[in-house]
Amino acid sequence: MKILVTGKGGREHALITALSESPEKHELFAYPGSDAIAALATRVDVPGLPELIAWMKDNGIDLCMAGEEALLVKDRGLSNLCAKAGIPCWGPLKEIAQLEASKTFAKKFLQRHGIPTADFTICTNAEEANAALTETPIVLKFDGLAAGKGVAVCTSKTEAQQFIGDVMEKRCFGEGDLLVEKCLTGPEISIFASVCDDKYQILMPARDYKRIRDNDQGPNTGGMGAVASLELADAALMQRIEAEIVKPTVEGILKDGLSYRGFLYFGLMLTPTGPQVIEYNCRFGDPEAEAVLPMLRGDFANYAFEAARGILQPALIRFEPGWSICLISASAGYPASSHSGDVISGLESVQGARVYHCGTKRNTVGQYETNGGRVLAIVAQGATRVEAREKAYVESTKVTFDGLQRRSDIGRMHFE
Ligand code: AMP
Ligand code: GLY
Repeated sequence: MKILVTGKGGREHALITALSESPEKHELFAYPGSDAIAALATRVDVPGLPELIAWMKDNGIDLCMAGEEALLVKDRGLSNLCAKAGIPCWGPLKEIAQLEASKTFAKKFLQRHGIPTADFTICTNAEEANAALTETPIVLKFDGLAAGKGVAVCTSKTEAQQFIGDVMEKRCFGEGDLLVEKCLTGPEISIFASVCDDKYQILMPARDYKRIRDNDQGPNTGGMGAVASLELADAALMQRIEAEIVKPTVEGILKDGLSYRGFLYFGLMLTPTGPQVIEYNCRFGDPEAEAVLPMLRGDFANYAFEAARGILQPALIRFEPGWSICLISASAGYPASSHSGDVISGLESVQGARVYHCGTKRNTVGQYETNGGRVLAIVAQGATRVEAREKAYVESTKVTFDGLQRRSDIGRMHFE
């Protein structure tokens, strides 16, 4: 089979690695991919989405797997264009990828289908938003692209008013509505499902660590680490999540006259009254994919190929028992900025852990350098959380570059 994965980060490196470990050998391609991904997949160099579709058609691609979300809602949508070209795509159509692209679309969907989520008000201007500030803490979410800076959990009214001023009056992120949402409390969990029309399979759950510094301090990032294990949620909790959230979501999509094929990510908060949806993402999580995928066994390539054609076969894959812990090494300045060109040393001495490249490139003498905010994901497995954590830290410490930032409490905080 010829399989193309879209994206270029650590998640895509992990997806392509998992595909390469399928029992049969497949020809793998990445758009745009990265220097590290190039060891496993041929990089496709085309200017944009229409050219990518034409390239896939000309080159007989059997399966397109959406790694990242951007192309799903770009132009007429990656999956829509694949459908038109007759290429099976594991990734949803543009119409339903709005679950991730538009926070107000997602909130209205959740409300319409009675799926637990925080109470909210959609505000079109600053006056409405200020009037909706009835309590603190309160959560404000800009409904549009904001480079990860569009959500503010405000502990005071003054802080909330300031955010409203920036977003709705100064329009720092451009035009768009603002969601004012009740603040929920409790541990967060990332649930992943393969959704194939009216069928679904829940995969291994994970937890990510969004803040830059230990003890969940400092600004939000794309994710500084993740823990994955079937033990993260017991059977009773998983049954509740399935009955109250996953199943009604899959049914809701069909009731709305739409259908979904691809990974669906449920960002949940486990509140004292039960699990509630914080967000949907129409793809695998990053860095959760780097923690979950090394635990996957079976035939991932055929699983995704069949599911993209509407035939979900849960028995083709399974997940190992035990724990998997992913540590992100980020570059200097992240998340406000990032630093490129710092030479990475020690990669060759990592043993017993997987290294996925999130943001690196090879320099002219063949060394890997930093090339983005999140640079590397180093992932280790163990029978226990403590064993996985110790291995991940021992191996990660071997890798260095100037300005490296790494949390020291991944897999400990929220557990001990
Ligand atoms: P989002 O971009 O919607 O995933 O939000 C980013 C982060 O903000 C989440 O991972 C939560 O930690 C936090 N957050 C979002 N919504 C709420 C909420 N209603 N209550 C408390 N925290 C929230
Ligand atoms: N880890 C959070 C995300 O993938 O959006």
